Amino acid sequence: MNQASIHRALQGSLEKDPTKGGLERLFEKRLAANYTLLQQLFFALYPESGHRDAFLRLQKKLHTLFRTRSNELKLQDLRRLGEENWYQSESWVGMQLYVDRFSGNLRGLEEKLPYFEKLGVNFLHLMPLNTRPQGPNDGGYAVSSYTEIDPAFGNDGDLGRLTSKFREKGICLMLDFVVNHTSDEFPWAERARKGEAEYQAYYHTFPDRSIPDQYEESLPEIFPETAPGNFTYIPEMDRWVMTVFNPYQWDLNYTNPNVFLSMLENLVLLANKGVDVVRFDALAFLWKKIGTDSQNLPEAHRLVSLFRLCLQVVAPGVIILAEAIVAPDEIVRYFGEGPLKGNECEIAYNATLMACLWNSVATRKTLLLNRSLRSLPPKPDSCTWINYIRCHDDIGLGFENAHIAALGWDPGMHRRFLLDYFCQRLDWSPAKGVAFMYNPLTGDGRITGSTASLLGLEKALEYKDPQGVRDAISKIMMLYGIIFASPGIPLVYAGDEIGMLNDYSYARDPDKLDDSRWVNRPVHDWETVAGLEARDTPASEIYRGIRNLVSLRRKLPVLADQDNTLVHESGNDHLFVFERGAGGADSLLVIANFDAHPQVVNASWLSALGYVGKGAYRNLISGASKSIRSGLLELAPFELLWLAKV
Ligand code: GLC
Repeated sequence: MNQASIHRALQGSLEKDPTKGGLERLFEKRLAANYTLLQQLFFALYPESGHRDAFLRLQKKLHTLFRTRSNELKLQDLRRLGEENWYQSESWVGMQLYVDRFSGNLRGLEEKLPYFEKLGVNFLHLMPLNTRPQGPNDGGYAVSSYTEIDPAFGNDGDLGRLTSKFREKGICLMLDFVVNHTSDEFPWAERARKGEAEYQAYYHTFPDRSIPDQYEESLPEIFPETAPGNFTYIPEMDRWVMTVFNPYQWDLNYTNPNVFLSMLENLVLLANKGVDVVRFDALAFLWKKIGTDSQNLPEAHRLVSLFRLCLQVVAPGVIILAEAIVAPDEIVRYFGEGPLKGNECEIAYNATLMACLWNSVATRKTLLLNRSLRSLPPKPDSCTWINYIRCHDDIGLGFENAHIAALGWDPGMHRRFLLDYFCQRLDWSPAKGVAFMYNPLTGDGRITGSTASLLGLEKALEYKDPQGVRDAISKIMMLYGIIFASPGIPLVYAGDEIGMLNDYSYARDPDKLDDSRWVNRPVHDWETVAGLEARDTPASEIYRGIRNLVSLRRKLPVLADQDNTLVHESGNDHLFVFERGAGGADSLLVIANFDAHPQVVNASWLSALGYVGKGAYRNLISGASKSIRSGLLELAPFELLWLAKV
């Protein structure tokens, strides 16, 4: 039983008492329910002997922070807690976007609400909105304030109006909490630079290279091509500071309890803006230890859980998404393990599914996908995934080497093949991706590019190849159809719904030039949107397809994440087959053909499962019933079926 269910039970009759006193009594109950765990976690990170006082400050802070939350949000918290695991519902369909590139600013976004409504999107991830340095700022992931909105996007009032509109329309808002680092222009960094020891201790700073050198022995590099090394020398303070990402992103030092206390305040202030889901950015990196890779350390998990349990006391309707793009087994750990099971993050990115889908596109086979999904450790009942194909970041090839080797492939060579396939090094490949952080010496690299360009649309349009265009559209619909039927919240990357291609203009901007992830951060193409209805184009076909998936998903309660997914072995290496709600009358069977040739499935198998009857089957995506011929169900190249029971 996780803490949320305890709070739900405690809420009981008090839920009916929405007065200030009633809300405070519930707060006290939540604090009492979490107290022991909070204390254990806090003292595990900050030993009791020297930190009793800091723990008392934490208790006090929780009271003060509760007072900063509006009554409207406090009542929403209670409603959310009452709707058990609301984020697991089939009704959510998400979109991720950069406000400036999508609609100019927050006011512009308000005007785009009809666009979301028409498409059926009701969960929005807005990329960072806070103030950031001019010039390179990692797309806003270098924050100069956790509370101030960058004037380029608008102001607090604009955000407030937008979030109350969202609440009115039932749209869920996700914003980032850049929890691992601040920009070098953040007030703490400014004060550290001026020599204030108190703030130098907010970061990992060192007077010379001796400790940094020890760290470097085992710390990997995140951006090896553009930001080699993990420390930056700051002449003004004559010290080295840890900068795992870019030199202008200073890593916070969570061994200092004051950092945790200040960041908790920032977290609650963010939640108070009307945020429903907080995306914990780069949370795998939160704790550093010499001799390790300083990723996924047990202390990082404790810290996230501590944030979570505090947030639950103050704002129990707000949940956390883990941005942990790490090895498959490590990702699941962010849902919490052992006594913390279900008490860490409610949602995590399903990076395993995402990377394996791209692997299947290139190999046209589903062996690695099946093997990886089957070997994923189970997640707690109360947690769920964000399923996605593309996002603003690169595609890392984070498969388990053992799984690749078990298929008879050499892991290094296989990754090289994927890079070649997607990054324009094989003439026959339809993909037009771009390498990210490619190291010619080691052959290591990651992949970037838009969904449509990676799946062949750009090249097919260039070569005026109608078959290539049809294949690309089928592949886009196949991948989106898979994530729409997978357990969790499907997240459409803005632009994908109209098949937007790579945007090469970043190469002309000196601040973006060396970060090829910008190739997939386009300015939204409203001209194409305006012509969607009037013209028959790849964009309109993709758009109609995505809208169809949205409305189908909403009609299928079996797609709510209730731990009801079964990955089937069909005996055909080109097919990906999974079932939701197996055994039930309203179950769904998904079959995707990753091959460029037609492929077949044995109809007697499908009939035993209940999806073929009287020689026919029913595909919800096309809305058509089709006959079986020669005892085989045939899928066209890159075809996707959602079969309902007949
Ligand atoms: C996350 C973001 C990525 C950013 C990094 C550092 O991984 O998704 O865009 O570069 O954190 O903040």
